[in-house]
Amino acid sequence: MQSGKPGLPVHVAIIMDGNGRWAKRRAMPRFLGHRQGVQALKKAVRYASQEGIKILTVYAFSTENWQRPQEEVNFLMELMHKTFVTEIGELHREGVRIVLVGDRTNLEPEILNVWDQAEKVTAKNQGLTLNVAFNYGGRNEIARAARNLARKVSLGELTWKDVTAETLEKELYTWPSPDPDLIIRTGGEQRLSNFLLWQSAYSEIYITSTLWPDFKEQDFAHALHSYNQRERRFGQVHSKENA
Ligand code: FPP
Repeated sequence: MQSGKPGLPVHVAIIMDGNGRWAKRRAMPRFLGHRQGVQALKKAVRYASQEGIKILTVYAFSTENWQRPQEEVNFLMELMHKTFVTEIGELHREGVRIVLVGDRTNLEPEILNVWDQAEKVTAKNQGLTLNVAFNYGGRNEIARAARNLARKVSLGELTWKDVTAETLEKELYTWPSPDPDLIIRTGGEQRLSNFLLWQSAYSEIYITSTLWPDFKEQDFAHALHSYNQRERRFGQVHSKENA
């Protein structure tokens, strides 16, 4: 388990919601909201890194997002591609390690190449780990992990008794990242939307109505402050009640 500064989450995950609404409020097309969302993401990455957060996981594209209008899907794909091509140098200089968490199987080769390159170039960096959840769905992730274990059982590498929470979590996309301590959702909706379903069992959740493109350092600081005020019990009894 990685340790960080006292009171600071080691692993923060963000559901970056509200790009479309941000654009709509300005009578702009939705894609401009996504473009502005990248600027907010750059700020969040820099801030997390400065604050000493070890891992930041961001929900960039879900397995359900393929159902959006084709134009928007194409725009998002191009945006990811372009952003990683242009930002990789700076991220690398800042010591950020990039990891793709999600299903690689049906991604376009150009997208996969840029991810592979980003992962390879930054693999040895010691700073912030940036897990980008892309073509990610929590249920798919758990089903895939179960399938991997089933295969190992059928090959005789494991027995059915070896199928435990510990062996299953090693098959998740996010392994070996520890579970997120704090999940931030922007845009005000109060749900997880298929994000980190297994890993969020004891995560603290912080929801803000701020739309993702408007999410700034001070909003991030508020979320961290809120986390710092909470007592995490992990299903146990309050420390004072126990005394
Ligand atoms: C949700 O807002 C946002 C997304 C589906 C895309 C998030 C992507 C980015 C912020 C860009 C990330 C870029 C990289 C390089 C990882 P929404 O469209 O659902 O907003 P709405 O709820 O207001 O409609």
